[in-house]
Amino acid sequence: MSLVTSTEMFKKAYEGGYAVGAFNVNNMEIVQGITEAAMQERAPLILQVSAGARKYAKHAYLMKLVEAAIEDTGLDICLHLDHGADFEVCRSCIDGGFTSVMIDGSHLPFEENVALTRQVVDYAHGKGVVVEGELGRLAGVEDEVNVAEGDSSYTDPAQVEDFVTRTGVDSLAIAIGTSHGAYKFKPGQNPKLRFDILEEIGRRLPGFPIVLHGASSVMQEYVEIVNAHGGKMPGAIGIPEDMLRRAAEMAVCKINIDSDLRLAMTATIRRHMAEHPDEFDPRKYLSPARDAIRSVVAHKMKHVLGCSGRA
Ligand code: G3H
Ligand code: 13P
Ligand code: ZN
Repeated sequence: MSLVTSTEMFKKAYEGGYAVGAFNVNNMEIVQGITEAAMQERAPLILQVSAGARKYAKHAYLMKLVEAAIEDTGLDICLHLDHGADFEVCRSCIDGGFTSVMIDGSHLPFEENVALTRQVVDYAHGKGVVVEGELGRLAGVEDEVNVAEGDSSYTDPAQVEDFVTRTGVDSLAIAIGTSHGAYKFKPGQNPKLRFDILEEIGRRLPGFPIVLHGASSVMQEYVEIVNAHGGKMPGAIGIPEDMLRRAAEMAVCKINIDSDLRLAMTATIRRHMAEHPDEFDPRKYLSPARDAIRSVVAHKMKHVLGCSGRA
């Protein structure tokens, strides 16, 4: 029961044909909902923190929340920086106790991405921290991550061996058609992922852990609850769960999920407020919101990631 790196988790996931869930955290209820699910499912777990989450909740609070969850649940947890934008934010998280960081140089020209990633790897490895890099660009919008569809590009399999060898990264995020946020495909459009690219990357990097960002399935039951209670999310569409399952059976060892948790939490609070218009005790609506997060995460672990019982 401690903070761990993802090294062992990924080794077992690769061999076992499943993926570890990396869930974004911002506050106590989200941390509790996720960790209760991991305990219930006896699943390996990565909790990840974006720059926006660090700004919102502050580094020290997030550290203490994760430490409290470890103490409370007895889980081993990998604490990861999501979408580190530069060397300084990576260094700050490494020095501040994270066990894993992502340096997201995916918007840079190849050689600049290599140089920046190598700089972070050298520092991180010196402190026993692992590093995720990214090649290729996902579309989509979230707080501090905003890429227009026209600026996105699939990962070029011909570049991955060179990138991994020269940077020394421990895992690699790739772009095969997933995207950030709740609007991943247009209504009427057939969701599609480039499994041919994933397969080729798996062939070129045998045994090496691949990461999938933008992997929420945007669960329609929650979209409907939002839309039935004053929300307006028509056309919110995610990655079909069977596609994520297929990726998890291939080289993908880490699957990032944030939007599905936001959606479950927001839908549950909207419904509670609509049903209890006189409510003003936050505990009364945050408790069912936390339960919804637990149930979504348990569902993902059991039916999508395949990591239940693997802790
Ligand atoms: O990929 C980005 C994560 O979902 C975090 O989003 O920057 O809005 O916290 P955020
Ligand atoms: P979603 O927006 O699909 O949940 O993706 C989250 C993510 O990739 C975090 O890095
Ligand atoms: Zn992401």
